[in-house]
Amino acid sequence: MPQRYSLAAIILHWTIAALLAFQIAVGWALEDLGARGFALYQLHKSVGITILALTLARIAVRYWKPRPTKLEGGWQGALASAVHVGLYAFMLGAPLTGWALVSTAKVKVPTLLFGVLPLPHLPLPQSSHALAENGHGLLAWIGIALFLLHVAGALRHHVLMGDGLIWRMVPGRSTALLVALPALILLGFLAGRAILPAARTTPALASAAENSDDATVNTAEVEAALSSSTDNAAEAANKAAADNSSSDATAAAVPAEKTEEPAGPPPAWTVQPGGRIGFSVGNDGETISGSFSKWTAKIVMDPDHPDSADIMVSIDMTSASVGDAYKDGMLPGEEFFATAAHPTATFVAKGAEATGAGRYRAKGMLTLKGVSKPQTIRFALTGEGVTRKVTGSATIARAAFDVGNGESSGSLAPQVAVSFAFSAKRKN
Ligand code: HEM
Ligand code: HEM
Repeated sequence: MPQRYSLAAIILHWTIAALLAFQIAVGWALEDLGARGFALYQLHKSVGITILALTLARIAVRYWKPRPTKLEGGWQGALASAVHVGLYAFMLGAPLTGWALVSTAKVKVPTLLFGVLPLPHLPLPQSSHALAENGHGLLAWIGIALFLLHVAGALRHHVLMGDGLIWRMVPGRSTALLVALPALILLGFLAGRAILPAARTTPALASAAENSDDATVNTAEVEAALSSSTDNAAEAANKAAADNSSSDATAAAVPAEKTEEPAGPPPAWTVQPGGRIGFSVGNDGETISGSFSKWTAKIVMDPDHPDSADIMVSIDMTSASVGDAYKDGMLPGEEFFATAAHPTATFVAKGAEATGAGRYRAKGMLTLKGVSKPQTIRFALTGEGVTRKVTGSATIARAAFDVGNGESSGSLAPQVAVSFAFSAKRKN
């Protein structure tokens, strides 16, 4: 029997421990952060799924590499083993309940792990949401309790019994590592606190976050896909939109620092009847243009503080028409929108950026034909008081959504231009 755990087991032990501390630090802040904090949701989910994968690897290593024999029998030995089993249950249970809670949320926000890998939703009934959510929060506390017992046990062996048990988890009997490895756990926790947006839990924002219902909170976290971690993906998916780079130049002219804090929760807006969402695409020298007659939008945004924006547009794909009965008959089919399986398309964005006076850009997530990809839209607001006119556009790379994948699409241009115009009235 070996004197200590394999190097693989040791590395995994300490890496997972540090990542768990990071997760708890970030997790506790998620719900209170208001509009700014949602970038952290995607990070929390990405790191959480990483922990799940590392834990599975660790369990595999446990069976594959020999471990040192148990040092102690009796009730103390049984307690130590029970705590180990509990810790494994926590390492698996925390990510699984987290995954379950996002999979059962009212608004299913797509997850791109580290901005790259889509995480599917688990096929669970929505009725299990509360259980998953409560379980997720509770498991963190159970994990902390087990951790304290575990550390107490390790200290007992090291300080009281002096039997050298601790060296089984510390390579090379190195005193430096004996300090450094547990310190990683503290560092993980501090790193989790350090990346939280500073001073954003102003009373106004905190209460705004509390007042919003589940759906809003979960939709809001889409911001994660829009900010740092997926910026590149979003930009890549929208290379075409970069033609519009003049507005990027204006963006640079807008001061990045905001001196004023918003006075209250950002206002919500109701879309007035008579708006339009249109699309057009080149086809062999001509342009095919159409529109969607049925769509809804939920918009929360303070034009002076665009980072507060919370946008959710839902389009009934069966309402698409290009004004030609023959072509309209093709749109619901597999080659284009596959409306039987995917009747609605959604665009969700949390936070927008000013790109000029009254002009904005929002990086969000478009779900179309069952595919979710980062998507940027640009829009302008005009008007004063309680009404605003909203006009805007987006360029969509249709291949990414598998739209126009058949023979009759051979001469369709790869980019589809979407434009919208509507009036919105302030609710509060
Ligand atoms: C792997 C270890 C994980 C740990 C230790 C952890 C820990 C936590 C903690 C402590 C909270 C705060 C709960 C509260 O105060 O009620 C939280 C919230 C949250 N976690 Fe995790 N988490 C982990 C993994 C995941 C994963 C994999 C996902 C999703 C794929 C996830 C999704 C969420 C979400 C969406 C929230 C927001 C709170 C809510 O809506 O209730 N977590 N997490
Ligand atoms: C300062 C913090 C920690 C110290 C000093 C520590 C120390 C140790 C030691 C010495 C062992 C070997 C026990 C033996 O040979 O019987 C061990 C095993 C173990 N530790 Fe930790 N640990 C710490 C944190 C954690 C954390 C945060 C977790 C997980 C949440 C964890 C999970 C485990 C598990 C599951 C085992 C059993 C390994 C196996 O036999 O499969 N430890 N730990």
